[in-house]
Amino acid sequence: MNKKNVMVLFGGVSTEHDISKISAASVIANIPEEKYNVIPVYITKEGRWLLYDGSADNIKNIRWDKLGTQAILSADRENGGLLRLVGGKVKSIPVDIAFPVLHGKNGEDGSIQGLLEMSGIPYVGCGVLASAIAIDKAFTKSVVSRLGIKQAAHLVFTDDMETDEALKNIRYKIGYPCFVKPARAGSSVGINRAENKKSLCQALVTAFLHDRKIVVEKEVKGRELECAVLGDKISGFEATSVGEILSGAAFYDYDAKYRSNKSKQVVPAEIPDEVSEKIREYSLQIFEAIDGFGLARVDFFWDEDTGKIIFNEINTMPGFTQISMYAKLWENDGVSIEDILDFLIEEALLRSGDYVPAEKRPLLPVRRQDSGQ
Ligand SMILES: Nc1ncnc2c1ncn2[C@@H]1O[C@H](COP(=O)(O)OP(=O)(O)O)[C@@H](O)[C@H]1O
Ligand SMILES: [Mg+2]
Repeated sequence: MNKKNVMVLFGGVSTEHDISKISAASVIANIPEEKYNVIPVYITKEGRWLLYDGSADNIKNIRWDKLGTQAILSADRENGGLLRLVGGKVKSIPVDIAFPVLHGKNGEDGSIQGLLEMSGIPYVGCGVLASAIAIDKAFTKSVVSRLGIKQAAHLVFTDDMETDEALKNIRYKIGYPCFVKPARAGSSVGINRAENKKSLCQALVTAFLHDRKIVVEKEVKGRELECAVLGDKISGFEATSVGEILSGAAFYDYDAKYRSNKSKQVVPAEIPDEVSEKIREYSLQIFEAIDGFGLARVDFFWDEDTGKIIFNEINTMPGFTQISMYAKLWENDGVSIEDILDFLIEEALLRSGDYVPAEKRPLLPVRRQDSGQ
């Protein structure tokens, strides 16, 4: 069998550069090697593209001597693929599929997806539109509000806002405590909880350091629940059972996510079946509403006292390690990380828009449908 060349892009210019490296190490280690050759490409924090020829294990602490030549992705389809610059000469490396294991800005927001569309290279995961909607917490909210799914009361501001007016609006329409978030970031970077005017002002300044647009939300009291979605409209898509985040801090901030060993993930969450079912149903609806393709993790709050399920956000390139919620949720449903990756890569080839006969569509590696649960 001819192995396909999968270009794995990782690193990137976003604040989630380091998280992308950890995700990529796990993706590279688990892509079935009997079917695919992996071409790892590291994007530095400054945005340079370099071939990486070290091991997956060492990605977290990349040694500069393991970084190869500069490689540029051409948008010119005739010379398409990855172009390597060696001694003033251009050499082409054929790429069959791209896997952007990039989180946040330029990776999860439709921009790399747009470049790959231009170059005619099929790629894993959500397309331009779905990525651009999901990265933007304000746009996501307006799409989800049409589905009638509950969300926290919120206001959206840009950095040309009239500050006194904004503070007044927040006070009367949202109240304290509230959460202040950059509209387009991730990993809780730039997010703060404000309890009064002083901390609100600080939180606004911090959020505006990360984005020109921000969202201010009413605090939701509830348990944090997450659901994983895999698939597409052509092959079909499915959602997992639900997992719970037990944050080791006041909220699930950057330290609680990646540095603290106090935070826990419970899979499956110990919640009533009807709550889990509702969350699965909502996750599929939201995935479809944003025009999702491939994968996403959909996050909610559940207020046990009132029974309300409140949508928080959708991530189109969720953390992708074996211990990430995304993989754990599928593992709990009997689907291994290797099967997920194999499906996602096969599925990327459906992107051309040409009709794909049923027998050629990749099979969703999900047991739920078979068992009729
Ligand atoms: N409205 C809210 N009420 C209570 N907690 C919140 C609210 N919004 C966010 N949080 C807390 O902040 C964390 C990060 O916010 P989130 O919107 O998920 O941003 P990110 O995209 O950075 O993960 C959540 O996991 C949760 O712990
Ligand atoms: Mg989140």
